[in-house]
Amino acid sequence: SGIKGLFTSDFYIGAALSGGDVRNQPNDLMVTISNNFNSLSPENLLKWQSVHPEPERFNFDLADRYVEMGEKMNSHMVGHTLVWHKQTPDWVFQKENGKARSRAELSSQMKNHIQVVMNRYKGRIDTWDVVNEAFTDDGQFRQSAWFNVLGKDFIKLAFQTAHKADPEAQLYYNDYNVWKPKKTDGILAFTSRIRDEGVAIHGIGMQFHLGLEYPTIGQLEEAIQKIVDHGFNISITELDIDLLPNPSGRQGADIDANFPYEARYDPFQNGLPNELKEKLANRYRDIFKLLLKYTEHIDRVTFWGVRDQDSWLNNWPIRGRTAYPLFFDQDYKLKNYLFDKLVELKKN
Ligand code: G3I
Repeated sequence: SGIKGLFTSDFYIGAALSGGDVRNQPNDLMVTISNNFNSLSPENLLKWQSVHPEPERFNFDLADRYVEMGEKMNSHMVGHTLVWHKQTPDWVFQKENGKARSRAELSSQMKNHIQVVMNRYKGRIDTWDVVNEAFTDDGQFRQSAWFNVLGKDFIKLAFQTAHKADPEAQLYYNDYNVWKPKKTDGILAFTSRIRDEGVAIHGIGMQFHLGLEYPTIGQLEEAIQKIVDHGFNISITELDIDLLPNPSGRQGADIDANFPYEARYDPFQNGLPNELKEKLANRYRDIFKLLLKYTEHIDRVTFWGVRDQDSWLNNWPIRGRTAYPLFFDQDYKLKNYLFDKLVELKKN
C-alpha cells in the first residue's frame, strides 16, 4: 500500500527521521511509515556530533533506538553519515591545546570513529553514506577541514576503513547538485579511479534537493546516465522539492521584513493554490518517471523527511519559512494530489 506499494518491484522507498521522530515514535508517524516506506535514514542522529560528541565519549541512545525501530518495521536501514565537514565537533580537528591535529592524528580519529560506529551496527545497517559532500559544484575537492590536512586521500581512507569494519555493507559517496556537469565529472573521475585501484565503493548518492523547474529532467538524466556508464549504483538519498522562491544571499538569515512575501514567508495562508499543487505533482511525477527508466541501477529513493512541518526547508535558506516539499501534511495525511499522479504514472 501507500508510496512503497507503488514501487515494490522498482526500488526501496525511504524517509529520513528526525531525532524527535525516533524519541517519541508517535502512532501516526509509525502508521505512516509502515504503510509508505521500506527504508529509513537518520536525518541527524547518526552524524558525528550526535554519536561522538567528545573524544572518549560516544552516545548511541537515539541511534540504537533508530536501528531497533527499523528492525521492528523490517526496513532497509541507512547510516548517514560517517565523514562530513559539517556537524562534526571541533575536537576532531583540534587538540585540547588548540593545536591542529597532524595528518597521522586526524587519520586515526577518522578510523576510530568509523570502526566504532560501524561495528556497533554491523549487519544491521545495510548501507552507509561513508563520505558526504567532499566536492564543490565545480568538481574540485572541497577545501574542508578533512581535505586541508589529509588531502584527497581522506576519501580513500574512509572507504577502506568502512569496508574493513563491515564487508557486507553497501558503501556510498553522497552529494548534492550531482547533476551539475562539472561536479558529476569530478566525482566520477575520482570515485571510479579509487574503485579501479581496489577500494570498495559501491554507489553514488544523489541527494535530489530540487526546485520546481531546475534542474531539468534532461540535466538529471544526463548525470544518471554518466553514473551508470561508470558502473556505479545510484541511490536517491534526500529527495524534496522546494516550491518557494529561493531568496539568494539570505542563507542563515532570520526573518527579513524586505522579503517580498508577506505573512512570515508563508504566502499561502489558505493552503497551496491549486496551480502550485499541480506543478508540484507534475514535477514529482516527472522525477519518478525518470527514475523508473533506471530501476536496474537505482536501489532506493528516500525523501528527506515525512511531513512538511518537519522539513529542513522550513529553515533554509532563511529561518521561519513554511515549506511544502514532502508527501504528508502536518496530520500525516497523504497528499492525494501528489500520490494520484504517481498512481497514474505506474498505470501507464
Ligand atoms: O537540535 C538543535 C536545537 O537544540 C537548537 O535549539 C536548534 C537551534 O538552532 O538547533 C537544533 O539543531 C539543528 C538540527 O538541524 C536539528 O534540528 C541545527 O541547528 C540545524 O543546523 C540542523 O540542520 C540539519 C542540517 O543537515 C545541518 O547541516 C538539518 O536538520 C538536516 O536536514 C540537514 O541534512 C543535510 C544532510 O545531512 C546532508 N545533505 C544536505 C541536507 C540538508 O541540509
